[in-house]
Amino acid sequence: MRRILMSMSETLHARTTAPAGAVRIDGVERTFPTKTGPRTVLRDVDVALAPGEIAAVVGPSGCGKSTLLRLIGGLDEPTRGSITLDGGTARAHDESTAIAFQEPRLLPWRTIAQNIALGLPRGTKPKRAKERVAELLDLVGLTHAAGQRPREVSGGMAQRASLARALARSPRVLLLDEPFGALDALTRLKMHDLLLDIHRAQPTTVLMVTHDVEEALYLADRVLLLRNLHATTAQPERPRAKVVALGSTSGIGALGGSGSHGSAPQIADDAPARDGSVARVVTVPGSRPRDRGARSLTDLRASLLDGLGVTHHTTTPLTAKENS
Ligand SMILES: Nc1ncnc2c1ncn2[C@@H]1O[C@H](COP(=O)(O)OP(=O)(O)O)[C@@H](O)[C@H]1O
Ligand SMILES: [Mg+2]
Repeated sequence: MRRILMSMSETLHARTTAPAGAVRIDGVERTFPTKTGPRTVLRDVDVALAPGEIAAVVGPSGCGKSTLLRLIGGLDEPTRGSITLDGGTARAHDESTAIAFQEPRLLPWRTIAQNIALGLPRGTKPKRAKERVAELLDLVGLTHAAGQRPREVSGGMAQRASLARALARSPRVLLLDEPFGALDALTRLKMHDLLLDIHRAQPTTVLMVTHDVEEALYLADRVLLLRNLHATTAQPERPRAKVVALGSTSGIGALGGSGSHGSAPQIADDAPARDGSVARVVTVPGSRPRDRGARSLTDLRASLLDGLGVTHHTTTPLTAKENS
């Protein structure tokens, strides 16, 4: 299946490639008015996404991940700071960005093909629309289900249709809000490879919110760890820009960075604002798709989980009683 998708991806490449977008987020703050006064959800967010990059956003519930995606997608506006896409402002419902969510949000009375067609740019000629929907059905492996209604297909298939609908406008930036969060574990693994196949065929810039650190490390070039500005419990603070060799047990907590100096891979956090929403920006070593069990990711995984407040993530041997 994967090989079929990849070869289809290659043939599609020339026809469907849209230029990937460069995203700049400068000094962004989002404050919402509430009954008890203004509430700042995001503060001092400075991030630049390179064209074609896959970045993952992780962080505790309520820290502003979806808010950030909505801002980039032009569905909301920052209270302070600016967000630009290739130097211009992203507007909702234009063709530069597309967003997909945890729930596929398909129209139940339309077929899978018709749902995908809803994502096409306004004014697409019928002949081109038909071709493009066929390409997208191919890309996500749903050609056989083109005429089915959403309730007749599995959750994974519906989510593939949702991805295809988002891709229909050939967005320069694809925003995914926990896109695989509702899928079973096996389907989720398949979706990871599908996303990478799609990214090869349409190398758009991807920003994906996930609560799954494994998913982030498997798919992303960089991981943004957000902190909750209103956390009631203390959140871990990490030394910034500390450089360590990957695999060093003493260096847990110092991550990321793109350079390799000398024989051991050197990693360091990019340096986000100290009290801002971005706790860390981590560059994931190695190229995609990564070996899920790679030792080089062990410290990174532990450290990110630590940053999410999951401190007891080491495998504890089962007691004889639990084991029986
Ligand atoms: N339109 C809004 N008005 C007021 N508060 C909002 C609005 N949108 C989001 N929030 C609040 O902002 C915080 C972050 O929300 P969200 O970005 O959805 O978090 P996450 O996706 O990280 O779980 C939450 O406390 C949420 O209640
Ligand atoms: Mg959310």
